Amino acid sequence: MLVQQKITLPNGTVLENRLVKAAMAEDLAAPNDPNEQHLKLYSQWSHGGWGMILTGNVQVSDVYKGAPADITTATPLADPSSWSKWASTIQANGTPAVVQLCHPGRQSPPGSGNRSFFTKNIAPSPVKMNMGDSLMARAVTALLFGTPREMTTGDIHQVIEAFAEGAKRAFEAGFQGVELHAAHGYLLAQFLSPLSNLRTDEFGGTAAKRAELLIRILRRIRDVTSPTFILGVKSNSVDASSGSLADVMEQIKLTVDAGIDFLEISGGTYENPTMMAEGAAPAERAATHVPSRRTLERESFFLSFAQQVRSEFPKLILMVTGGFRTRLGMEAALASGGADLVGIARPAAVVPDLPTSVIMNEKVTDEEANLRLRPVRLGGWKGWLVDHSPVKSAGAGAQSIYYVGQLHRMGAGEKSVDSRLAA
Ligand SMILES: Cc1cc2nc3c(=O)[nH]c(=O)nc-3n(C[C@H](O)[C@H](O)[C@H](O)COP(=O)(O)O)c2cc1C
Repeated sequence: MLVQQKITLPNGTVLENRLVKAAMAEDLAAPNDPNEQHLKLYSQWSHGGWGMILTGNVQVSDVYKGAPADITTATPLADPSSWSKWASTIQANGTPAVVQLCHPGRQSPPGSGNRSFFTKNIAPSPVKMNMGDSLMARAVTALLFGTPREMTTGDIHQVIEAFAEGAKRAFEAGFQGVELHAAHGYLLAQFLSPLSNLRTDEFGGTAAKRAELLIRILRRIRDVTSPTFILGVKSNSVDASSGSLADVMEQIKLTVDAGIDFLEISGGTYENPTMMAEGAAPAERAATHVPSRRTLERESFFLSFAQQVRSEFPKLILMVTGGFRTRLGMEAALASGGADLVGIARPAAVVPDLPTSVIMNEKVTDEEANLRLRPVRLGGWKGWLVDHSPVKSAGAGAQSIYYVGQLHRMGAGEKSVDSRLAA
């Protein structure tokens, strides 16, 4: 099986296989640091036979977080050993662990950071989000996120240092690397996009200048860590919010030239959360007895864009995340040349040892190696709200609520038993 093949990253780290547990925000840090629940949660993944494990997003600011219980690197540690305990728990069985670092920029909801209700979010430019055209959607968006404040040059330099400090904390704690979250509409993605970055200074105006913040952060992180520290970037494929294909390719070139070890391809934002699509329903799959190569490749949401990146950057290590549910789909993605690594999120919250128990388990047939997740439908008032919400991303919110619930079970030391798993 291709998924079982080893791969060496440019920094020298050897991954034992191609299956990577993708980032999922745990929503467990109260207030700021990893704790016992993180250890119980990650210990389940550490026994799963993953080639590499990414943490959920860790915020580099405590003023602007993605959610109140995100871990942050911006505050002194209450327990000086909490980060090293976290790193050693994840890596207990030799799997390299990588911390995902993030700043939400204009996507920081109220109450999720150490700031008053009246403090505005920050962003490259004062451009508010569009989560739906109806009056109600606009009102909800205004209330939740408002119009962000344009960052000063001083703010930008602070953010560069905050990412560097975050990487240093991960490095000193014993993690093998960091990944910068430059996808899903967070601050770094806001800088990359011509729709949210209207600046005319050194951080905006052209595709290259819009990538300047990301590049400076990458360089600073190399300064404060080591050439053998894994440096990855999660970036979006070309979509409605990212600018032209030529612009995105130019930005990827600059990112590659800055010396990264892998690029993870995803897509979507809070405005249009394509990364949280539910994929083919079980019944549709069952109808296809011998899936064609084309059908298998379509299982992955962003593989076709990854193939375009591959044609320009033949040596770049590409991780593709979103939609993978079957062994055959994963094998097809690797065989297509578009992916070197297969990123898996939601299934990992259902079957934490997915690599060893299913995908790489030779006793499990190809037909059985199919993690058919039923669509998430919330019951009660939460379900009603989602069904009637004017905000486009409400369905993705429902998915997050559901899967975060699974992470919380695992954090409590319970099994993640799931009724969504079709028999
Ligand atoms: C509960 C939950 C939390 C997530 N948190 C993050 C995150 O912190 N950082 C990130 O890059 N993506 C995050 N994602 C997105 C996943 O990494 C992934 O891109 C997406 O779920 C698609 O992959 P999948 O089809 O394998 O689930 C999250 C997804 C879920 C379900």
